Amino acid sequence: MASADEAAATGVFMQIFNTIATWRSHAAHLSPRGPRVFVPTMGALHAGHGALVAQARKLAGTDGHVVVSIFVNPTQFGPHEDFARYPRTLADDVALCERCGCDFIFTPAATEMYPPGQTQLSINPGYMGDILEGAIRPGHFSGVCTVVLKLLAIVQPTHLILGQKDYQQQAILRCMVRDFNLPVSVVTAPTVREADGLAMSSRNRYLTEPQRAAAPVIYQTLAWAAAEIRNTNSDAAQLSAAMRQRINAAGLETQYALAADCISLAELRGSLHPPCVLLAAAKNGNTRLIDNMLIE
Ligand code: PAF
Repeated sequence: MASADEAAATGVFMQIFNTIATWRSHAAHLSPRGPRVFVPTMGALHAGHGALVAQARKLAGTDGHVVVSIFVNPTQFGPHEDFARYPRTLADDVALCERCGCDFIFTPAATEMYPPGQTQLSINPGYMGDILEGAIRPGHFSGVCTVVLKLLAIVQPTHLILGQKDYQQQAILRCMVRDFNLPVSVVTAPTVREADGLAMSSRNRYLTEPQRAAAPVIYQTLAWAAAEIRNTNSDAAQLSAAMRQRINAAGLETQYALAADCISLAELRGSLHPPCVLLAAAKNGNTRLIDNMLIE
């Protein structure tokens, strides 16, 4: 890893930029031949992020470039959420990015993204931002859309890679790209799971040993419900109640567990059949876990 100046002097491969101006002046001289593939993150990277970066590398090929942003975005955290204690592990993140084939890291300070005293317009994601995660975390998706729009304007990628793990986030960002005619292709990468099915997440590190042991119940419940839909076209309300009951029986507190339309995320009613997406969120102690399963 190297700062832009060090890299220029030493020929070291991956470079790190902290300001929009230094990134822009470097990016202006990059070859436009291959794709520029962008993976936005908030750091605290794990193997799931590693898979996104590796996928980005594959897509970019040898002619293109992979850009990863590492920025813990304050505007997507509510006043009682974990912004202050959100894990910040920059040295490890940089090492993981380098191992997985990243070319450039953009890791600005909050003041670079949101200059003090400057008016800050924000994106209103509408209905899709107010349901599910948005109902529990008001304003969250406005913060996500706003920072991703800014990052897209700064990085100017050809491709944006998002994880399926945050299903609602990728669905809303896809709409933003479509509705604002942004010149970028969105690629959704599959969720990476631990051996017992738990979806990898930066927040898993908050779990105590018994909470970690109980956590795979969310994945198990989604897999059970997916099989029910495939085999029996179950009733939506009954299936949702049964999912809640399974998750709660393992000691977690279900916040939602339901089947929704894959694109609009509207909750489905009546008899269920593919395609649909199962979405679940539960509190495991003080830690919120989310997961989903696409039924195609
Ligand atoms: O998924 C995340 O890590 C964040 O919501 C994102 C997309 C990087 C925006 O801050």
